[in-house]
Amino acid sequence: MKVIIANNSLEASKMVSDLIKEEIKNKNDSVIGLATGSTPIKVYSNLIENYKNGEIDFSETITFNLDEYIDLEKENKNSYYSFMNKNLFDHINIDKNNTYIPNGNSKDLEKECKDYDRKIDEKGGIDLQLLGIGRNGHIAFNEPGSDFELKTRIVDLSYETIKDNSRNFENIDDMPKKAITMGIASIMKAKKIILLALGESKKDALEKLICGEVDKNLPASILQKHSNVYIIADKEAGGNLTCLD
Ligand code: GLP
Repeated sequence: MKVIIANNSLEASKMVSDLIKEEIKNKNDSVIGLATGSTPIKVYSNLIENYKNGEIDFSETITFNLDEYIDLEKENKNSYYSFMNKNLFDHINIDKNNTYIPNGNSKDLEKECKDYDRKIDEKGGIDLQLLGIGRNGHIAFNEPGSDFELKTRIVDLSYETIKDNSRNFENIDDMPKKAITMGIASIMKAKKIILLALGESKKDALEKLICGEVDKNLPASILQKHSNVYIIADKEAGGNLTCLD
């Protein structure tokens, strides 16, 4: 794992957007795995700026998002579908037919999950996967205890995740308790992975990911086994990692 601790969140986000920019410049039809949450917002605004400056052409780019809530209307402002349009897709020249997000309103959710993994394979697999990390060490919605071998599937969200993500909903009861998530096995198939961690609240999870054992109670720790991973953090999240002294 290449661990890079930037001076601040802006610098960390710029490193990540530059890596994505390089990836797309080298291969126009790259398959990029995208994340939601507060962490990648600045990465996406940098990419929008890069597009507006003529530095990136997204016309051939294919994207797959990590996850989506179940039973939340697409148009709801908290759906990951709305999030991606608002924070990235509406502002760049990507063909929206090439942007894939699991459909949490599908009548056949099991089939939706299987089809999602199949579609990723059909497109040649993910070239670069962007990840955030939950306070409890989750990646996508693979909560602590998730088996590393699992693929895209339906999951129950943990209490901690419901509490964290409910900040975007008017009240906690409006927040979906289930989601479709790419599994850890699906994520680990990506050719390159970049995990971005920002802020003090991610410090413990990051310490365990980088300095601890591979343990399914800290799902992100599996990244230690991947051969091409960047962990990029700001000082608040990664400033005092015991094993890097
Ligand atoms: C969410 C998403 C994850 C994300 C994480 C952290 O639940 N499913 O993909 O990385 O939680 O979110 P944030 O960036 O808002 O801290």
